[in-house]
Amino acid sequence: GRIWTKVSELDAALKERNVLIRGRAQSARGKGKIAFLIVREQGYTVQCVATVSESVSKGLVKYVTGLSKESIVDVEGVVSKPDVEIASTTQQVVEIQVRKVYCVSKAASVLPLNLEDAARSERDLEKAEKEGVQYVRVGQDTRLNNRVLDLRTPANQAIFRIQSYVSMLFRQYLLSEDFVEIHTPKLMAGASEGGSAVFKLDYKGQSACLAQSPQLHKQMAICADFGRVFEIGPVFRAEDSFTHRHLCEFTGLDLEMEIKEHYFEVLDLLGELFVSIFDGLNAKCKKELQAINQQYPFEPLQYLRKTLLLTFPEGVQMLKDAGVEVDPFGDLNTESERRLGQLVKEKYNTDFYVLHRYPLAVRPFYTMPAVDDNRYSNSFDVFIRGEEIISGAQRVHDPDLLVKRAGDCGIDVKTLTAYIDSFRWGTVPHGGAGVGLERVVMLFCALNNIRKSSLFPRDPQRLAP
Ligand code: 4AD
Repeated sequence: GRIWTKVSELDAALKERNVLIRGRAQSARGKGKIAFLIVREQGYTVQCVATVSESVSKGLVKYVTGLSKESIVDVEGVVSKPDVEIASTTQQVVEIQVRKVYCVSKAASVLPLNLEDAARSERDLEKAEKEGVQYVRVGQDTRLNNRVLDLRTPANQAIFRIQSYVSMLFRQYLLSEDFVEIHTPKLMAGASEGGSAVFKLDYKGQSACLAQSPQLHKQMAICADFGRVFEIGPVFRAEDSFTHRHLCEFTGLDLEMEIKEHYFEVLDLLGELFVSIFDGLNAKCKKELQAINQQYPFEPLQYLRKTLLLTFPEGVQMLKDAGVEVDPFGDLNTESERRLGQLVKEKYNTDFYVLHRYPLAVRPFYTMPAVDDNRYSNSFDVFIRGEEIISGAQRVHDPDLLVKRAGDCGIDVKTLTAYIDSFRWGTVPHGGAGVGLERVVMLFCALNNIRKSSLFPRDPQRLAP
């Protein structure tokens, strides 16, 4: 009998078996009595060979040759070993000797994006440029304007499988540590991150905005005795600047937890959480990482079993020793963060580390000042390859201090009444963090632009598709 098989699962063990596959006609060519059809399913390809014989008509061979690229086809045939060796990691090492081909859905004969060009590796493009070969380099806007086609490349298929794994591993680890998954409102009466831009909207005649983070409600969930909570959900930021790492909508991985003695409890948990995510990706996503590497070559992430913790003043000193002057009570700019990432890599051999004890002045109003020196705070950022993926802190849980801090930061406390009142009814010390999912995927794979790890990116210039 015949069995439905996924292209990714075709291998020598199926030799001589009659299989049925469904995929896209990636390319078709023919000559007289023989036609070659490359079928692609979710980034994996296999060559199907149609040869005129007792069971295969001349008409079928001709039909195969004429299939328009990207059409959906069902192919039935026998698995066999090809004559030539196959080098690509996403091309199967077996062939299919075609018996039947059925076109399920025909693609337009002219496509706005050529998949072969879109999937070409950076290595090949660079080599071609040196040798004067004419290859089309598909630009970012062409890709994003035709994202459904662009997403069909093996690298993109792999990127979004990895993204799915990151959320799965995040959720799995936190559930095993007794966290409760929550869902906080995305329609809000006011800003939650004090100052940074919000999308305004009309809420039945009342002015409202899209949530800039689950910050206030995840803390309120702690006030409501959930102990440890996390959320995976959309975050909206009306960013003005068009950069390689800012989106106007991204996916936030947020967590908040009770602190017993010290905010290091949050840092330790985050370190272990991310080691488990990185280990999980390396163990479960080997093929995906290879597929990404084939198009966008990158060095695997270096990380320590016990995550490195550096203080902000130590970071400032390392920069100073390297001849980079930074304000010891200011924030680090992108360039200094990158430089510090390089210095940390040289000294500690890790691409992943935590920088904590930031100056209070550069942190949001809800951040807990350091007890020993209130120019500093119990807060942190976490970096991969010198770029921020996480920011977090211990929170102020004294309502009067919170009112004062909000005032100092120029925030109208009237918009925060329900939040601040939550602390008047008794609450445990707590802290937490917010992680940008797209940033984690981008930086784990050393991609150069966050739009590559956002399925349908929203940026200051893009609201479609
Ligand atoms: O640093 P942010 O703004 O921190 C918060 O939202 C706090 N409420 C977190 C907390 O628990 N204290 O955002 C957290 C993370 C950043 O580290 C970054 O990875 C990501 O969210 N992020 C963005 N990702 C894509 N586009 C943007 N415009 C982003 N802004 C922040």
